[in-house]
Amino acid sequence: MTRRPLLIVVLAAGEGTRMRSALPKVLHKIGGRSMLGHVLAVAQELAAESVAVVVGPDMDAVRDETLQQIPSAHVCLQSQRRGTADALLAAHGALSRHSGDVLVLYGDTPLLTVPTLEQVLAALDDGAGVAVLGFEAGDPTGYGRLLCDGQWLKAIREEKDASPEERRLTLCSSGVMAFRLDDLEGVLGRIENNNAKGEFYLTDIIEVAGRDGARAATVVCAEDEVMGVNSREQLAAAEAVFQRRKRREAMQGGATLIAPETVWLSWDTKIGRDVVVEPNVFLGPGVVIEDGAEIKANTYAESAHIGSGARVGPFARLRPGADIGASARVGNFVELKNVRLGEGAKANHLAYLGDADVGARSNIGAGTIFCNYDGFLKYRTEIGEKVFIGSNSSLVAPVKIGEGAYIGSGSVITKNVSADALALGRSEQVERPGWAAKFRTMMARRKAEKK
Ligand code: UD1
Ligand code: CA
Repeated sequence: MTRRPLLIVVLAAGEGTRMRSALPKVLHKIGGRSMLGHVLAVAQELAAESVAVVVGPDMDAVRDETLQQIPSAHVCLQSQRRGTADALLAAHGALSRHSGDVLVLYGDTPLLTVPTLEQVLAALDDGAGVAVLGFEAGDPTGYGRLLCDGQWLKAIREEKDASPEERRLTLCSSGVMAFRLDDLEGVLGRIENNNAKGEFYLTDIIEVAGRDGARAATVVCAEDEVMGVNSREQLAAAEAVFQRRKRREAMQGGATLIAPETVWLSWDTKIGRDVVVEPNVFLGPGVVIEDGAEIKANTYAESAHIGSGARVGPFARLRPGADIGASARVGNFVELKNVRLGEGAKANHLAYLGDADVGARSNIGAGTIFCNYDGFLKYRTEIGEKVFIGSNSSLVAPVKIGEGAYIGSGSVITKNVSADALALGRSEQVERPGWAAKFRTMMARRKAEKK
């Protein structure tokens, strides 16, 4: 297929109220990324010449999200919700400058895939002026029905305007449409709003363009791919589909997920080969797991890098900036934030490590705290290689521990420690021989006298 210049218009201005949210609908997240972000990512992969997003009034956050992902995108304002045809016309600026194909996507349909959209665009090469992405709906309620006549699509009938026979049809419109029309804006301008909702329906373009002799083709895809999100329940349903996809991808890439349905991944999670992920693991955005690492049960990680052969968890928490070296160990109830843990280093039990560099093969004992914050500013802890931090120590940053040093258990370390030294920051132990025996005798006598 030789691609003509492509303009992708994402309609994101209509809100509806069923989300019951202060956040614009298209900014709700699936796999840690906004629905709009997913749609824009597909647009980027299709290598569109230009991308336009139609937003409603007071949708600055949608504008910002768009421009952050695609700085060259046109953000167009639809001042009033008058329907999807009117929304597309709001992209007038982008449309008038464009000559080539136009693909319309809905901002609330985040699970579309590139190969499917390639098929929709390919249908234009086969002589169609309009191509519509359809699907067989398990429950067609609320969707526009595709009225076909042989190979070609004759019309799309919205649920509210459909006759009882038309409502029985299950082949529905996903909302995705591609156009190769000489005068798309002219055709859109002829769409009327004489329907049950009083809106200018983009779906009416099939009939209007048909009168000019343009033919409309249908491409059919799986229902999963074109799920529209109009409510929180549908958001959760779309999330479930997304998670199944990501888990399948991870397993096909050579990772073992012992109980895949309990592992939560994000849109950008990267998992290497021979990684084993135990049950109940949550990976927020920005997690990379290298080959052969093991993520044990009940681990929570975000913006973290886990080196090859490392073992993390059970019950570990990796916060942004956690960088776990190859073959390192992070055990239960250990929290790391903005820490580089060197190769083969260990923090196996109950610790908080924040804003630090831990050298290779160092051992951080149980109950260690890096005191990185004084209520105003954050400070770093720097630990050399092969250092041993005894259990229950507090390292008050900024502080440096030289290579090979030992910190005695229970120390509060406030000054730098030189390489290979032993540092103790705790009170001396005192011993009184025989004290306990004398104490018991005395107390027993006192108790007897009271009776
Ligand atoms: C639409 C289709 C329907 C299809 C269904 C698939 C129309 C008339 N109907 O119905 O055939 O089966 O999607 O999910 O197109 N929008 C605007 N401005 C508006 C109205 C809508 O930008 O004035 C945007 C919305 O933000 C949304 C998209 O267009 O992203 C679709 O609008 P929505 O109201 O959700 O249409 P549906 O009733 O779901
Ligand atoms: Ca919708």
